[in-house]
Amino acid sequence: MGKKKLVVLTGAGISAESGLKTFRDSDGLWEGFDVTEVATPRGWKKNPALVLDFYNLRRVNVKEAEPNAAHFGLAALEADFDVHIITQNIDDLHERAGSTKILHLHGEIFKMRSEKDESLVYEITGDINLGDKAEDGAQLRPHIVWFEEPVPMIEAAIPIVQQAEIFVVVGTSLVVYPAAGLLHFAAPYIPKFIVDKKIPDTSSYYNLKAIEKPASTGVAELTDLLKELK
Ligand code: APR
Repeated sequence: MGKKKLVVLTGAGISAESGLKTFRDSDGLWEGFDVTEVATPRGWKKNPALVLDFYNLRRVNVKEAEPNAAHFGLAALEADFDVHIITQNIDDLHERAGSTKILHLHGEIFKMRSEKDESLVYEITGDINLGDKAEDGAQLRPHIVWFEEPVPMIEAAIPIVQQAEIFVVVGTSLVVYPAAGLLHFAAPYIPKFIVDKKIPDTSSYYNLKAIEKPASTGVAELTDLLKELK
């Protein structure tokens, strides 16, 4: 028998114990910045240098961070399940922990692209500066989905969720759409789990077990519960 398809939706909470700040645990400010200034197309138009600096700093933070027990725990589940990670995070901690099937809904901090042609995407480990150009001559910007922008990867994520035999959510406030809506595409009868240090409102979901713990210990508890479902 093949391994069961286990789909995991992750958010900022899974990387909190790696020292990366979540978005909504700090009054609309994100690392001290107003999100509308640094993470919207309007902000980019108004002050691209500020936006680049902001993400250059985020890139340094991510480089310095290490995956935690939650990332490693999800990677280890591949021994028993066909694990598909769908993450809202722009960090690469799932990759570094060893997960092999990862879809980034909101982009990746180690990629950049032309501000004109979103198919011109490049790897980046250092800074992006004003004046750095893509091959089409347009300014390079972070390959990140900002507020008010479409989420093209949702099209690839939906069928993965529809085929899930087990669905898990870790560390997301479930307030940002369309990501939050993914849960509704999971078949109603399959087992579902949510790990979060403060469980958000999940009253509209069927067959969902809440594990109200930090991601690291929460994923360990989840792993135990999943042994019954192999
Ligand atoms: N362990 C588990 N959960 C945690 C921890 C932790 N150590 N710390 C915080 N959390 C939980 C919070 O309780 C909250 O439910 O993680 C969640 C973080 O929520 P948000 O900050 O809203 O992050 P996320 O859901 O990933 O945001 C979604 O919004 O800003 C945009 O594009 C950005 O991808 C992001 C999207």
